[in-house]
Amino acid sequence: MRHLMSPLDFSVEELEELMNLAEDIRNNPGKYAHACEGKILATCFYEPSTRTRLSFESAMLRLGGQILGFASADSSSAAKGESVSDTIRVISGYADICAMRHPKEGAPMVAAARSGIPVINAGDGGHQHPTQTLTDLLTIHSLKGHLDNLTIGLCGDLKFGRTVHSLIKALVRYPNVKFIFISPQELTLPGYIRDDVLQKNNISFTEVRHLEEVMPELDLLYMTRVQRERFFNEEDYVRLKDFYILDKAKMKLAREDMLVLHPLPRVNEISVEVDDDPRAVYFKQAKYGVYIRMALIVTLLAMKEKEESSC
Ligand code: CP
Repeated sequence: MRHLMSPLDFSVEELEELMNLAEDIRNNPGKYAHACEGKILATCFYEPSTRTRLSFESAMLRLGGQILGFASADSSSAAKGESVSDTIRVISGYADICAMRHPKEGAPMVAAARSGIPVINAGDGGHQHPTQTLTDLLTIHSLKGHLDNLTIGLCGDLKFGRTVHSLIKALVRYPNVKFIFISPQELTLPGYIRDDVLQKNNISFTEVRHLEEVMPELDLLYMTRVQRERFFNEEDYVRLKDFYILDKAKMKLAREDMLVLHPLPRVNEISVEVDDDPRAVYFKQAKYGVYIRMALIVTLLAMKEKEESSC
């Protein structure tokens, strides 16, 4: 059974196929309007979400399938103490595929081990967010035309930002990608990303505090919000939350073809005055999330059917 826990679960070739499928879906939606007829997607979200849950649901509905699920731990039997393992065993009898978000790192992996249906990690704690990464890769591939030879600035909460961790893991597989990490000292990358992902793969990177000094070098700027829900005390959050604010003045320092991405939700880190700049592509990026999740659902269900028919 193929699940999606990490962006590395797909090879570079498989990712290329997935992105080509997503582009085909984007250009020919009618061709896929019945691709998942008779299939059900369960969205099991133990943590809040707007984009990920609703784009998964939109994806399945646009494929002609149906949806069921819960949007918070409180509205499921997790509130009564049910384990993730028991929940997924039950859901396996109700649905054909499941997208799961959970505040605990590794919870979707525990579910996958007990599941009778493909499980997609829709974000686990501060760990990973592979479908956001697929969305980011599709956005970059579609708007830049390539994923190699890029200088990428990642700015904000690099410690707790799971989208950043997943994106770095995915991008180190492409040639000549350089990273510039822009964060306050307290929110630098976790050691395991620096040691096990960047240094192990001999990836060139620099770490700076000030966004202005690196703006002219960037092909892409990936902004992130400071993750209030992962802080241990409110005082630290308040001190750090407005450390970076991207505004028109800073955008003037950037290249004409630089793109600004953000997984959203945004709080204060991008001023709304930047939204009309053609280089600000974060709302377009959110829309690409539907196409890549459509491609992912079609692909995982096809893999499952293939396995079942070969048994
Ligand atoms: N980007 C993202 O994961 O957004 P949500 O938390 O709204 O799903």
